[in-house]
Amino acid sequence: NEIELGSYDCYMMKEIEEQPAVMRKIVSAYTTENGQVAIDERIISSLLASDRIYIIACGTSWHAGLIGKNLLEKLAEIPTEVHLSSEFGYHTPLLSEKPFFIYLSQSGETADSRQVLVQTNKWAYPSLTITNVLGSTLSREASFTLPLYAGPEIAVASTKAYTAQIAVLSILASVVGRAKKIMAAETFDVASELSLAAHQMDTLLTKQGKYQDLVEKMLKQTRNAFFIGRGADYSVSLEGALKLKEISYLQCEGFASGELKHGTIALIEERTPVFALITGQSTHLQTRSNLKEVESRGAATCAIVMEDLAQEGDDIILPKVHELFTPLMSVLPTQLIAYYTALMKGNNVDKPRNLAKSVTVE
Ligand code: G6P
Repeated sequence: NEIELGSYDCYMMKEIEEQPAVMRKIVSAYTTENGQVAIDERIISSLLASDRIYIIACGTSWHAGLIGKNLLEKLAEIPTEVHLSSEFGYHTPLLSEKPFFIYLSQSGETADSRQVLVQTNKWAYPSLTITNVLGSTLSREASFTLPLYAGPEIAVASTKAYTAQIAVLSILASVVGRAKKIMAAETFDVASELSLAAHQMDTLLTKQGKYQDLVEKMLKQTRNAFFIGRGADYSVSLEGALKLKEISYLQCEGFASGELKHGTIALIEERTPVFALITGQSTHLQTRSNLKEVESRGAATCAIVMEDLAQEGDDIILPKVHELFTPLMSVLPTQLIAYYTALMKGNNVDKPRNLAKSVTVE
């Protein structure tokens, strides 16, 4: 491959470790000469004229879209829906009067997403493709495009494209929010918060010593694993579970932790692995009590917790970032857990069975 592996054994670890640099690259690429982050005026005015955003994506990009919804609603106050391309295409929901479509796609070639774009183009709705590949089909066919600047992503399991999508969406949301004079956007310095996140990601990524033991202890003897959380932690739980299933072949699921008692807790047995993501100021106590509930039924647990919410005995502590950016931190341990599990199992980390990097059939 033309992309050098350097000292790495596989692309996935290289790409995981590139994430802080990608954050910095995005900040500098979206900063203009006057030192402010900026987005093409035409994109901003099209968004300002719309009454609802529809994010269309698949897989990991869909998970990034879930975080994007939160950013767009909080910073720009535009109602945002996130849809799976393959669902939206054939079961189109009732649309608002002035929809704006955002296509999130690392490759820009995903057929399921393209199929929706062809349709929304027929309806002449404005669209923006956020992609890692400028000149890709989705990038050419949408009204507008914004690059991710993540550099080529080779490993099938996506890592740096996910965090890049969140970063670019946060810049978009904050520029729109500022144009609308939304207080939350005016008091949010997206460039410096992203730079801080990059720094904290570096700190977290230098501490990989514990993961090998952790996965040996929690995931060696199991056929399944669960991730739980609330709000953004729930969205990241879905991504953490997807990453682990993709390369470890364990059956993994992400659950809203409040829903456990409504059914899922029946699955908990002696030593069932449960990873809890705890970064939300308003829900950390609730998730902690959910963690206790599964522990008391025998689960093997691992708490991944934001620094200021940490307690004695928590397994992984996330260095502090702005609350809107906790997903940039909490996703890293889930990527590392997936990586070290695949390694332990002797699986092909970069090329998992049955999967393709870019799926160009519906
Ligand atoms: C494939 C890949 C996934 C990816 C999804 C969407 O299934 O294996 O890792 O998340 O496609 O890809 P895209 O390029 O549209 O982001």
